[in-house]
Amino acid sequence: CGIVGYVGPRTSEKALGVVMEGLGRLEYRGYDSAGVAVVEDDGVQTRKRAGKLANLQQALADAPLPPTATAIGHTRWATHGGPTDANAHPHRGGADGKLALVHNGIIENFHALKSSLLEDGVSFTSETDTEVVAHLVERAFGRTGDLTDAMREVVGTLEGAFTLLAVHADQPEVVVGARRNSPLVVGLGEGENYLGSDVAAFIGHTRQALELGQDQIVTISPDTYTVINFDGSPSDGKTYEVTWDAAAAEKGGYDTFMEKEIHEQPRAVADTLLGRTDADGDLVLDELHIPVEDLRAVTKIVIVACGTASYAGMVAKYAIERWTRIPVEVELAHEFRYRDPVVDERTLVVSISQSGETMDTLMAVRHAKELGARTVSICNTHGSTIPRESDAVLYTHAGPEIAVASTKAFLAQITASYILGLYLSALRGESYGRSAAEVMAELQGIPDHIEALLGTMDRVEEIAHFMADSRSVLFLGRHVGYPVAMEGALKLKELAYIHAEGFAAGELKHGPIALIEPGQPVFIVVPSPDSEHGLHGKVVSNIQEIRARGARTLVIAEEGDEDVVPFADEVIRVPRTSPLLAPLLTVVPLQVFALHLSTAKGLDVDQPRNLAKSVTVE
Ligand code: G6P
Repeated sequence: CGIVGYVGPRTSEKALGVVMEGLGRLEYRGYDSAGVAVVEDDGVQTRKRAGKLANLQQALADAPLPPTATAIGHTRWATHGGPTDANAHPHRGGADGKLALVHNGIIENFHALKSSLLEDGVSFTSETDTEVVAHLVERAFGRTGDLTDAMREVVGTLEGAFTLLAVHADQPEVVVGARRNSPLVVGLGEGENYLGSDVAAFIGHTRQALELGQDQIVTISPDTYTVINFDGSPSDGKTYEVTWDAAAAEKGGYDTFMEKEIHEQPRAVADTLLGRTDADGDLVLDELHIPVEDLRAVTKIVIVACGTASYAGMVAKYAIERWTRIPVEVELAHEFRYRDPVVDERTLVVSISQSGETMDTLMAVRHAKELGARTVSICNTHGSTIPRESDAVLYTHAGPEIAVASTKAFLAQITASYILGLYLSALRGESYGRSAAEVMAELQGIPDHIEALLGTMDRVEEIAHFMADSRSVLFLGRHVGYPVAMEGALKLKELAYIHAEGFAAGELKHGPIALIEPGQPVFIVVPSPDSEHGLHGKVVSNIQEIRARGARTLVIAEEGDEDVVPFADEVIRVPRTSPLLAPLLTVVPLQVFALHLSTAKGLDVDQPRNLAKSVTVE
């Protein structure tokens, strides 16, 4: 979910406008419903609607809210209770409706809390866990007369993960926020302050931000902010300057964020490579707080991630094992966490997350730390929870990614994994035939290759339009092309709601080939002809096998690879690279394909149904 809060000078009338603008920038965090609350001296008024923010905008046009100096807002990814008007946030507390509250996360003990409220005669208007908290805070306010104290009293009784924002008509000049595990940042303005799930909420107004720690409460008023821990002790918080600019979070002439972000990929890779070598050509990492001896002593690497980031992890495995000879496992974070993994202090656990807030990944990192592992995070969001809790961070510099389906962050994650692999390899003195400097030099050339490749995507767009009626599309790949095939399938599921599967090409004959019938479209990511062990020839044979059974073969192959031509219905060319680096190119046509197929079907490219960009619940 996305959360915004604003408090300005008493005479200010802009609170609702600021909050609506913030919700627009946070809508990618959830779009099942949206709502706002404005605070007046004699009460709090709310508007909320199921569906996208546009529905709320319409509701506000039909029944405007008064101008005020204080407001909060919410855009929801539904957990407890379906996406209805009644379940939309803000929720009201108390019979007089003087309190409004929004929430991101899940209150795990809400049944018990709700039962005791019901026994006390409290009636509920929604099915949400959030409304329970609204009533609790309102009651605590009745006792304490102060919203911060009331919030502190209540958070002590809550289990689970949450960010909460509350406003109360008896204290119209404050917004109180609390966080445990879910994200919340403070934006510091001149005579006005902001709260947001991430900096996008207020980036149009201020670049000054304040990071909050776990289990903290923040109270903002027009001129002040105070931070306390849940136990009541004071805290300073850490201020920082936001480097992302507001324009980066706008479409800039493209129809969709996804299309823009696909075109930003050369930049994302180049920026992620930037500044990684020092004057001697040695690799440098950001915020590395692991003693070098510990890194030399690592006996195993486990990569944990979810979704697209997990496919970046699979690519990383091939490269890191190759370059360091350290065994690498890749595991979905939510599986790793709950299966008693074999991890000790000589294990390096690498998390990959664009947002740095994915709860499944965060829990895996915490578990790894409990088991004594060293933790490194590859992350795109400065100051987010996962890098804050990791021993070391390697930031990807993809800039804000707004489209729910990840593209440029994926390429940046792969790039960062290569950098990590090269760094570890240099540290351990491993030699794998090429120096780290040579691989870095080749990586520096990749952004131009991506740029060139993006200039040749017209045919892919046409193919996507022809294929708009497809019911099923398969993707095959081998070696580093295997995770690319998985990512191609995921993009198509997410964006076009088409059944799509990615398979290891070698596995085809062990089952999936039974799916091939005349006309079945299959993308094949062909390894470079320079690949070792004859992999190229083996995949070319796979293309023949499926074609013989009637498949329509859509082949992604390097320039100059003529072996594929006789068996391909379509050949999509990518520039030549050394085999391990190829995913930075081969995935691009698959992204473009999914984008255009979704467009051809008239679907919402940036906000596909049922998804959210950053899933802050387990
Ligand atoms: C969600 C998004 C995916 C994303 C995954 C991991 O499921 O819909 O697109 O790949 O989370 O996100 P992260 O921020 O951890 O990279």
